[in-house]
Amino acid sequence: MTNWQLALADKHTAIQIEIDSAHQLLRYLPMLKGKKVLILTDSQVAPLYLDKLTHQLINDATVFTKIVAAGEPSKNLDHVEECYRLLIAEHFTRQDYLVCLGGGMVGDLGALIASTYMRGIQLVQVPTTIVAQSDSSIGGKTAIDYHHLKNLIGTFYPAQSVLVDPQLLLTLPQRELAAGLVEVIKSLLISERQPTDQHLLARITPQSLSDVDLLAQLVTRGLQIKSHFAAIDFYDFKERRYLNFGHTIGHAVEALAAGELHHGEAVSIGLITIMRRLVVHQDLPVQVLEQTQQLLLALQLPIEIPTGFTHEQIMAKVTADKKASTAGIQLVLLHDFGQPYLQTMTFKNFQDWLGW
Ligand SMILES: NC(=O)c1ccc[n+]([C@@H]2O[C@H](COP(=O)([O-])OP(=O)(O)OC[C@H]3O[C@@H](n4cnc5c(N)ncnc54)[C@H](O)[C@@H]3O)[C@@H](O)[C@H]2O)c1
Repeated sequence: MTNWQLALADKHTAIQIEIDSAHQLLRYLPMLKGKKVLILTDSQVAPLYLDKLTHQLINDATVFTKIVAAGEPSKNLDHVEECYRLLIAEHFTRQDYLVCLGGGMVGDLGALIASTYMRGIQLVQVPTTIVAQSDSSIGGKTAIDYHHLKNLIGTFYPAQSVLVDPQLLLTLPQRELAAGLVEVIKSLLISERQPTDQHLLARITPQSLSDVDLLAQLVTRGLQIKSHFAAIDFYDFKERRYLNFGHTIGHAVEALAAGELHHGEAVSIGLITIMRRLVVHQDLPVQVLEQTQQLLLALQLPIEIPTGFTHEQIMAKVTADKKASTAGIQLVLLHDFGQPYLQTMTFKNFQDWLGW
């Protein structure tokens, strides 16, 4: 088992990563005993894992469940209110627990509810996607979407405990697995633990998607790298922003694709678009680009901007990005493996830099 404590603001998150740990829930999460526990999950995860978790708790805790429809649209205010009503009706107190069983959607929604009900109840994350196991379950960002604006309403509220069981990933569809790995690949590119993480990157192949031991190593490194950046820059002013490598173009392409591309697929396009320009204009060695490109292609991920998306449309989305300001856009760039840096460019300069 790999485990560590992550100190963020005034909270500590206990992170435990172990294959098959979800089948021994009370061994890893003994604090649930004697408590009221609301397990929040979605309609795709529920038939796979909800009963397994509930049965382990039923004799030792008072368990309630809430299932929302799978998919991003469920990260909404209506579900927040429904859960508040359930928590009120069942007399949950600040000592009771909300357990998020699912991907980043369930994790973000549940964490927002846990952070605001009674100004904060106990929160446990049991993540079930690569995105959630390697990234979103830690770091304290909670959110719902509002008026079609992604993550508009949220808080900072780290979970008390995160239990990662990589075995749960094996029921994910191939496309979801590959797209989820993109954020891990990005993290290995920017990680300061080089050349070790470069070697880990080289071990990823299409076969990795069913290799639970390698998946465990990958999500562990993802969480360790995120822990490092979140710990030194909790409120996201500098180093934590390195985690956005590839996301400026990625977010724009994702928005234009209107649901046709997974987040990871859009980031894959964003990474390669930026890395190509870094090779031309800055000092990124071409081998870093080529290795990343080959890996993403081997995982059947897209690396080209879809035909039909114009440069003007992409720039319009970049301009509207949450992280943009009147001064322009702050970009995450890379000198080499493990050497990210920030640079602000005006929109005009960015467009020229892209050769558009
Ligand atoms: N808080 C953060 O720091 C942070 C970071 C990154 C992303 N996010 C958020 O995370 C969300 C995306 O997360 P995601 O990619 O995990 O998407 P998701 O939670 O929507 O899950 C993707 C799909 O996989 C299904 N699924 C989940 N686990 C499964 C399993 N083990 N087997 C089979 N199917 C399974 C889900 O039902 C869903 O249909 C977005 O809302 C994003 O904003 C948050």
